[in-house]
Amino acid sequence: MEAVSWTVLGLESSCDDTAAAIVRLYATGKVEVLANAVQSQNAAHAPFGGVVPEIAARAHAERMDGLVAQVMEAADLRFDALDAIAATAGPGLIGGVMAALMTAKGLALGTGKPLIAVNHLEGHALSARLSAPVAFPYLLLLVSGGHTQLLIVEDIGQITRLGSTLDDAAGEAFDKTAKIMGLGFPGGPAVERLARQASAPERFTLPVMLAKDKSCDFSFAGLKTAVKRAYDALENPSDADKADLAAATQNAIARHLAQRTARAMAIFKDRFPNLTEPLPLIVAGGVAANSAIRTRLTDLAREEGFTLIAPPHEYCTDNAAMIALAGAERLKRGLTDPLTAPARARWPLDEAAALATPKTGAGRKGPKA
Ligand code: KG4
Ligand code: ZN
Repeated sequence: MEAVSWTVLGLESSCDDTAAAIVRLYATGKVEVLANAVQSQNAAHAPFGGVVPEIAARAHAERMDGLVAQVMEAADLRFDALDAIAATAGPGLIGGVMAALMTAKGLALGTGKPLIAVNHLEGHALSARLSAPVAFPYLLLLVSGGHTQLLIVEDIGQITRLGSTLDDAAGEAFDKTAKIMGLGFPGGPAVERLARQASAPERFTLPVMLAKDKSCDFSFAGLKTAVKRAYDALENPSDADKADLAAATQNAIARHLAQRTARAMAIFKDRFPNLTEPLPLIVAGGVAANSAIRTRLTDLAREEGFTLIAPPHEYCTDNAAMIALAGAERLKRGLTDPLTAPARARWPLDEAAALATPKTGAGRKGPKA
């Protein structure tokens, strides 16, 4: 029986998933997910081809308390069994972020338990540890509808950003491609499905993004323009045309992600010359579900002395278990927050890197943090 542990309720509502979870972290490092619930809003946003902030905020506010009751019952716990209440406090769509944070503040006030205001990106950074004991440090490629970042994760609060997107996130590149071709939302799974039917993707020449740029940054805006031009040039596009263009786009995204990850791998190896290979490369975020991208990253990892670790899908996409785990790790270190903790639309994980190279762009989560 492991005695010392931290049991934390985590809440998440920063984009279009409303989520609550309860996680127990033991002093030994072992992690137990006691309950994990997510309600997607895909159906509500689908008619608009993207997330509508006002619709998202209302849906979060309506569902959050019910989800809390659901996970407490599923874990068979009373509030006095919790050690803290954690919630995503940013970055994200501000109306949505407030739903989880305000609920957490109310619960913290009512129960007398500490509040922990979690950075959503720190949650993603730790998500692989929900299902496997991955030791620090590791390299993380975070690719979702809101973020595209390469990070070195050394510890809680010790995360270095090597690169980030200059414009759209990788998931948006998939979603916008799907919108151009009329495939529906979310676009990633639709593009991947269609790409499997392709017979001649090489007939489309799409740009190599940031070809001369020596950083670990990403850019997808030029690709979107090129896809639109290629699609508009087709007369009455057939299913075969669409499949070829979907595959060409997916290949271009996978190639770009792999090229930037290769640069980050070199930096990681320089930074930690004494670690034994294979070194850990974690891929997280909704786009990590894409099998063409996984295959490409697996090959790259093998060539460069890394091993690719992808959390199970439920922890890859937005979820509250990762927020509860970040909360538990913070609580373990005595890091709690006052009830005045603000909701933040922007909240870079690596403030120093964000100040040195500010990024612009207005994607699903506003300017990319
Ligand atoms: O992490 P996530 O669930 O949430 C947010 O960022 O909010 O990521 C969602 C993104 C969407 O842009 C979606 O199109 C993309 O991940 N995605 C995929 C696939 N499944 C989801 N992209 C490519 N291939 C997939 N199979
Ligand atoms: Zn996310």
